[in-house]
Amino acid sequence: MPSPSITRIGVLTGGGDCPGLNAVIRAVVKDAASHGIETVGIEDGFLGLIENRVRPLTPDDVSGILADGGTILGSSNKANPSRFACGMLPDGSPIIEDRTDFCMSVIERHGLQALVVVGGDGTMSCAEIMVQRGVRCIGVPKTIDNDIHGTDLTFGFSTAVQTATDAIDRVRTTAASHHRVMVVEVMGRNAGWIALHAGVASGSDIILIPEIPFSIESVCDQIRERAGRGKRYSIVCASEGARPVGGKAFVERIVATSPDPIRLGGIGRAVADQIEERTGIESRYVVLGHVQRGGTPVALDRVLATLFGDHAMELLKFGSGPARDMDASRGSRLVVWKDGRLGDIALTEASNKQRLVAPDQPLLAAARSVGTSFAEA
Ligand code: F6P
Repeated sequence: MPSPSITRIGVLTGGGDCPGLNAVIRAVVKDAASHGIETVGIEDGFLGLIENRVRPLTPDDVSGILADGGTILGSSNKANPSRFACGMLPDGSPIIEDRTDFCMSVIERHGLQALVVVGGDGTMSCAEIMVQRGVRCIGVPKTIDNDIHGTDLTFGFSTAVQTATDAIDRVRTTAASHHRVMVVEVMGRNAGWIALHAGVASGSDIILIPEIPFSIESVCDQIRERAGRGKRYSIVCASEGARPVGGKAFVERIVATSPDPIRLGGIGRAVADQIEERTGIESRYVVLGHVQRGGTPVALDRVLATLFGDHAMELLKFGSGPARDMDASRGSRLVVWKDGRLGDIALTEASNKQRLVAPDQPLLAAARSVGTSFAEA
């Protein structure tokens, strides 16, 4: 039986959005309502707590949103309650304030006994601050990057991979018509999962990922070698975080008010320019950017998001962790998908760690066996 003490919960979506967020919100609200639990939606992630912007969510409010991209609650990746950037000093540096007490007062005012926190690394760090203040939080991992420690899969990733694959398929036909090299830059931050999966799925000739530093000479050698075999075009799928041997990742901008201020970007152009200069083969680049975060979630992401939302509610209702705890510190868990099964780990376990592509990742070997190059030195 569910704990009689849980009658009202809050749900928020934080960090960069991804397809499947609405499917989680829907699962949480519908499950909660069917057990007599009220759900309150917190707008724009932790910013909604900091600014007391919340609204009730009923099953009617979430009906029909399963297949919608984005999040009906909005999101923010600049709202850490303990280090909130509330303004700017004349020198351009942010004014930082601790708004945790106010967030606690909002939680109390609305009678929220627990929070379902849907987000990535940064959002989970914010949740940990609330856990330390006695608020039970259940984390649901989201990100197109698929880089959250402790879970083999995050929802949003499969949709991003499909979008990138479709885009590369389209780029391939124009590359073939014009006998060009096309470099497609995909997202993923410091993890190469999107590039690796979309690169393999699209049959890209060269895949550049952050975990394997590349040599531009090796990239050009592959392209020349293909040309020598009569292959009159080549496709390079480059992760935004990939870097040359001994070099650094390409940084597009710094967002000073963001907890993770570095925004990567620029590798597509740099690599395409180098290829054209060194091989003499005409080259172009495409940056897929936020297209990968938008649109309707593929079926797998809808299913995973629904499973995650359902598991979050199971944990909230019946206690969580090995001891079925309901208290804040031991009962705050992160829902995960591990070894083909749904499960949960301590919320703190995934903090400050990234799940990167390991050298023994089977997809690396599979890619190499079909002739794909990672352009190692
Ligand atoms: O973490 C998701 C992600 O889309 C990354 O792949 C990308 O590097 C980053 O967010 C972009 O952030 P923003 O939306 O702030 O530009």
